[in-house]
Amino acid sequence: MSRTLIRHAQVVTPAEVLATSVLIEDDKIAALDVAEHTRADEVIEARGLVLLPGVIDPHVHFRQPGLEHKEDLQSGSLAAAAGGVTTVLEMPNTRPPTTTVERLHQKLELASRRCLVNYGFYIAATSDNLSELQRARRTPGIKIFMGSSTGNLLVDDPEVLRRIFAQTTLPIATHCEDEATIRRNRQRLGGRLTVEDHSRIRDHEAALRSTQLAVELARATGHRLHVLHLSTAQEIPVVAAARGLVTTEVCPHHLFFNVEDYARLGTLVQVNPSLKTVEDNRALWQGLLAGQIQLVATDHAPHTLEEKRRPYPESPSGIPSVENSLALMLDQVNRGRCTLEQVARWMAEAPALVWDIVGKGRIAPGYDADLVLVDMNLQRTIRNQEQHTRCGWSPWDGTTLQGWPISTWVRGHRVYHRGRFDTSRPGGEVQFDHARGGFWAAVPTAEPS
Ligand code: DOR
Ligand code: ZN
Repeated sequence: MSRTLIRHAQVVTPAEVLATSVLIEDDKIAALDVAEHTRADEVIEARGLVLLPGVIDPHVHFRQPGLEHKEDLQSGSLAAAAGGVTTVLEMPNTRPPTTTVERLHQKLELASRRCLVNYGFYIAATSDNLSELQRARRTPGIKIFMGSSTGNLLVDDPEVLRRIFAQTTLPIATHCEDEATIRRNRQRLGGRLTVEDHSRIRDHEAALRSTQLAVELARATGHRLHVLHLSTAQEIPVVAAARGLVTTEVCPHHLFFNVEDYARLGTLVQVNPSLKTVEDNRALWQGLLAGQIQLVATDHAPHTLEEKRRPYPESPSGIPSVENSLALMLDQVNRGRCTLEQVARWMAEAPALVWDIVGKGRIAPGYDADLVLVDMNLQRTIRNQEQHTRCGWSPWDGTTLQGWPISTWVRGHRVYHRGRFDTSRPGGEVQFDHARGGFWAAVPTAEPS
């Protein structure tokens, strides 16, 4: 058995932040607050540092198979580990897309050799793969693109959607942007478009209408639903009203960027759902702080700089951020906007609950030793040339943040330490226990609203 003792860290547990020790035995957290002289193979002296549960990012695009020039499971998972992310749930719009059980299993097999962090893969709905969705196991759930985005997985016929909601049992996650509204806006705007028009085409109404439909379908069928990447103030009450059945998330780019940023960053911040206004930024923060939005996920969506710099609308939508999301949030802790406990809740515990992930999301005995040690005083400037993602850029290039991960453990194995990786052991397949019933079954409805 291998034992690692992390001593004198400020440990973020669900209840509090306390100065204590954490003993790791093999791949599990064995105990907290052990005696000073507990024997261990390795002792990590962590005075002045903060130990958080490893970040679970339940929304990344790692592009393998088929789009490896943008990212693959190896490059994406190195980026994740450097960013303190120990588990990723990956989206199905690869080439070919993950629309069958066979392809899902192929991804799992590939990841078991190539992915440095723990992994799970969504299966995508199409208009005719119901039996695959019904058969699928070993997956967090079903992804439905109710609005078109990268790839061609659009399912927007209400009857087809109703059938998927009514005749499947896996949790459903939706990309909500109403296709008819998008089309109408595009026609109205006519020929010469600029990137600013991206937010006029994929406007507030498009997001709101589609989210309303998804929530309606969830209600009508009693089907658990997670609305991905909320981008408007108006969607928040729609989702919050379906508390108990529906959960949601917000991405760093919808918290930190808005339409004003097109002037400086152009198509680099072109993303679906589109960026909205500074008021939406504020409302999304508010919704997160109030518990109406349950978690922070990145929607890490790498495209090369060359692709992103094509003239709009040939430029693809998507922003890479898996290696900077934790630092972006820790910087906010340093600015007093939120607490370490909230960051641990939004980025580890809540995603574990929403997706029924077994044994992860907390620092507690018996849980997997997926951990990240952070230095809340460390200041670093994000630089394109230092990114680990294959696409090699970040919209935060040149931004200085305070509060950075320095060490990351995946199932008891230190995979990242101060710029260096140990790739000798891949991460593990995430286990899902969907009988647990998701976030609301675990968190009584007494959560603040
Ligand atoms: O901006 C986006 N990029 N939104 C999506 O829904 C997909 C993603 C991608 O895969 O590029
Ligand atoms: Zn996405």
